[in-house]
Amino acid sequence: MSVDHKVNAGPGLPRPDAHTLERSDRLLAEIREEIVRGSGDIPFDRYMELALYAPGLGYYAAQAEQFGPGGDFVTAPEISPLFAAALATQCVAVLGALGGGDLLELGAGTGRLAADLLGAMADKGRLPDRYYILEPSAALRARQRDYLSSCHPRWRDRVVWLDEWPTGLRGVAIANEVLDALPVRCFRTTPSGIVERRVGLGASQHLGWCEAEAESELLTVVGRLGEDLLESLGPGYCSECHPHVGPWIARLAGALREGVALLIDYGYPRSEYYHWQRREGTLICHYRHRAHSDPFFLPGAQDLSASVDFTTVAEAGEAAGMQVLGYATQAHFVLTNALEAGLTPPQDELARLQLAQEIKKLTLPSEMGDRFQIMALGRGYTQPLRRFALRDMRFRL
Ligand SMILES: C[S@@+](CC[C@H](N)C(=O)[O-])C[C@H]1O[C@@H](n2cnc3c(N)ncnc32)[C@H](O)[C@@H]1O
Repeated sequence: MSVDHKVNAGPGLPRPDAHTLERSDRLLAEIREEIVRGSGDIPFDRYMELALYAPGLGYYAAQAEQFGPGGDFVTAPEISPLFAAALATQCVAVLGALGGGDLLELGAGTGRLAADLLGAMADKGRLPDRYYILEPSAALRARQRDYLSSCHPRWRDRVVWLDEWPTGLRGVAIANEVLDALPVRCFRTTPSGIVERRVGLGASQHLGWCEAEAESELLTVVGRLGEDLLESLGPGYCSECHPHVGPWIARLAGALREGVALLIDYGYPRSEYYHWQRREGTLICHYRHRAHSDPFFLPGAQDLSASVDFTTVAEAGEAAGMQVLGYATQAHFVLTNALEAGLTPPQDELARLQLAQEIKKLTLPSEMGDRFQIMALGRGYTQPLRRFALRDMRFRL
């Protein structure tokens, strides 16, 4: 996501409309009830799941206005069609090697990536047989349908929305900024080990952080980070781990019979993720183009996400029978593909300036270029992916 600046939550943030406030209040009541019904607190991943996906109330479940200038954030496909064009080059190569196949997009947002990918692949003479979309949000599914039928009415039958993971897919699966939306579990290191950071009720029934002895499931996941790494962080280090990534990747592997999954997100290899620089963790909230650090501000009205630990993704892929075929920054991936496509500047001065801005946003290290990374996981597909060759970072995992 690309946002303007980071602020602390609070009075500086614009208030939402009455309807959004009322919805957030209802979600808050449900969360409080669950906390009271339980032992007085809930794990953060459960809170994040409710805040994002509670039926009819969660941030992604209840509305489709997250994206663009009137929403909370902007993603790469919304910034420039160049992003889809870069992915199209890779998709066409894989479908070419397979002699045809399908595409599966996970979490398709507004449908913009699907529309631009179909357009770019058609230009290269290699449309997928089917473009499947697996999107848990009914509100976003409706938005995707409207958008795709308005820009590509002739491919209406080619795009298919799924209610569950497919099986036997031959082709390419794509997920842009989906892994960062999977709920995370939070912890803090202490001189005597790990404590879990959970969500409880404070004074005046406000949601807030509380700490408890770490449950064995959390200890197992944190334990996988390795004793040396944890020890090097010292006490007082707050971060999160990703217990939902493994099961999600296992489902992805189960869906893909032969082909490549392209996963794009902001994140780091593990040794950089759990670095002293990130001693407050990477959990981040997006609300009206402000990034801030209060996950309890208006639950259901703001986005919550955390960076991706790409080492965990790679390990989960390998455990599920996939192979890491490439790992690159978004900048290197986009530039390799733009060069290969022979990108030529438009004649029109304004369009040229616009394109230059888009390229900067997608590729500069101070924008999305380095923090966003792309990992290719193959299943039954062993051909080298040339588009990762400019600077393949697998050695950093
Ligand atoms: C940050 S948005 C990114 C949307 C789009 N890919 C883009 O780049 O603009 C996250 C998307 O992932 C979807 N999503 C969330 N959890 C998911 C899951 N477990 N499986 C598939 N999609 C999911 C959301 O509904 C939403 O469409």
